[in-house]
Amino acid sequence: MSGQQEIRFEDVCVEFAGRAALREVSITLNEKRIGVIGSNGSGKSTFARLFNGLVSPTRGRVMIHGLDPLRDGRRLRQRVGFIFSNPDAQIVMPTVTEDLAFSLRGRGLTRAEVDGRVTSTIAAVDLGAHAEASTHGLSSGQKQLLALGAILIGEPDLVVADEPTAMLDASNSRKIGNRLLDEIPQQLVLVTHDLRLAARCDVVLRFKEGMLLEHGDPRSVIARYERDHP
Ligand SMILES: Nc1ncnc2c1ncn2[C@@H]1O[C@H](COP(=O)(O)OP(=O)(O)OP(=O)(O)O)[C@@H](O)[C@H]1O
Ligand SMILES: [Mg+2]
Repeated sequence: MSGQQEIRFEDVCVEFAGRAALREVSITLNEKRIGVIGSNGSGKSTFARLFNGLVSPTRGRVMIHGLDPLRDGRRLRQRVGFIFSNPDAQIVMPTVTEDLAFSLRGRGLTRAEVDGRVTSTIAAVDLGAHAEASTHGLSSGQKQLLALGAILIGEPDLVVADEPTAMLDASNSRKIGNRLLDEIPQQLVLVTHDLRLAARCDVVLRFKEGMLLEHGDPRSVIARYERDHP
């Protein structure tokens, strides 16, 4: 299992128009719950987007579960589910059921298989009462649960979530946070400014000005971050 779960960055640099967004990031991770913290603009989203090829390294190499996003992008995008802050960016179909089914397009599943997965996913993300509801009418929290469902229905091996609770109230943040941290079987990379969520991870990475400043025990890493940003 650990070989399957390995995330490896070797001297990874990312530049945008000649400016460094990530500088020589090298790390190997096998943990199941990986928190990512750091100030605005420190490189967290750039790091997260390397996982499925949304961003390409300018130098260095990324290997996710034995796959290189540059060479195996298609396979990797099936294995890595990505969740953003704004669920509106991910919801594409008019109803909850249709949106979930849409995520399974091109997988060669029968109608019955799609229906079965949609039904179980709707239950898993607590949207049973809204199965035929218009996606536009959902609350932000419900939309984020739908976005999560649309990822989980594809049965990825890894979920990368970039500030998934940023737009949610306290109750929905807790709900999404608990889903991600306590319930999903997948390996998780969670980028967050919510240090309470980061504290519940197995390991925390702290970025600063494009550098991976440190990683390790969540409590120690978070304590030093709070000390530096009183
Ligand atoms: N597509 C892009 N084009 C140009 N510059 C970019 C691009 N994406 C990121 N950057 C720059 O790279 C740096 C790191 O940005 P990134 O979005 O990774 O930060 P972040 O840690 O996710 O910040 P935040 O907490 O605000 O989301 C910033 O200086 C940003 O302006
Ligand atoms: Mg970001």
